[in-house]
Amino acid sequence: MTPATSNGWLLETRGLTKRFGGLVAVDGLPLAVRPGEVRGLIGPNGSGKTTTVNLLSGLYRADAGEIELRGERIDRLRPHEVSARGVARTFQTPKVFGNMTVLENVLLPALAALDRGGHRPRSEILEHARGLLEVVTLDRQRHALAKELSGGQSMLLQIARGLMVRPIHLFLMDEPFAGVHPTIKDIIMETILRMNRAEGVTFLIVSHEMATLRRLCERVSVMHEGKLIAEGSFEEIANHAVVLEAYLGR
Ligand SMILES: Nc1ncnc2c1ncn2[C@@H]1O[C@H](COP(=O)(O)OP(=O)(O)OP(=O)(O)O)[C@@H](O)[C@H]1O
Ligand SMILES: [Mg+2]
Repeated sequence: MTPATSNGWLLETRGLTKRFGGLVAVDGLPLAVRPGEVRGLIGPNGSGKTTTVNLLSGLYRADAGEIELRGERIDRLRPHEVSARGVARTFQTPKVFGNMTVLENVLLPALAALDRGGHRPRSEILEHARGLLEVVTLDRQRHALAKELSGGQSMLLQIARGLMVRPIHLFLMDEPFAGVHPTIKDIIMETILRMNRAEGVTFLIVSHEMATLRRLCERVSVMHEGKLIAEGSFEEIANHAVVLEAYLGR
């Protein structure tokens, strides 16, 4: 389990801001997630969700604001350093190495960490990878090339690869259910709930799929034009006038 920090948050951002030219994609975002939560992050297209995930994972450098993970600043770290602090992620468009096997794709980050001076025995890394491929039901395809996988299977592969992060505290998922077959959707949901319950992994899940999020999350945060416009249970946000306006243009 991830211990709570002094302020009780696993992840906390303050004034998080990212601009692209004149566009403020993320605008002073305050996000606070408790250890062990499965939090939803929703908002209309272009509201800044992916940019937020890119900031949290170290892919983008914030123009202003702070990101704290377990009470420590991570907003100046590079992606592999953020990952080494226990933050995993998936990409909206699956990023896998098509000409490598499924197993090699899962092993890659852990082996790269070894090259940077990590100390996990290779045998343990291999065992961990095989176990995770079993969890996401891809073990039988482990020697297939990643380019042979369907879109949904590539998402499962990204998830297994993310779960290799050790220790793992926070998993950021950007649209993990988009365009995915219902069977695979169920596997993704089961994997999230299993890792949350068994290992106390905290999740931040960006999704447009309300019915799915409702089954996973108690609380959701709503973004609109880069800002956090609402936060709460589904019941609370569903009745929120600003949210309805943002979604329906009312
Ligand atoms: N690398 C970039 N360069 C320039 N503008 C960008 C870049 N990435 C995102 N934007 C712009 O920033 C805004 C927020 O984009 P972002 O991708 O974060 O939205 P989103 O909420 O993830 O949308 P979607 O639901 O469509 O995935 C959009 O106006 C987008 O066009
Ligand atoms: Mg997006």
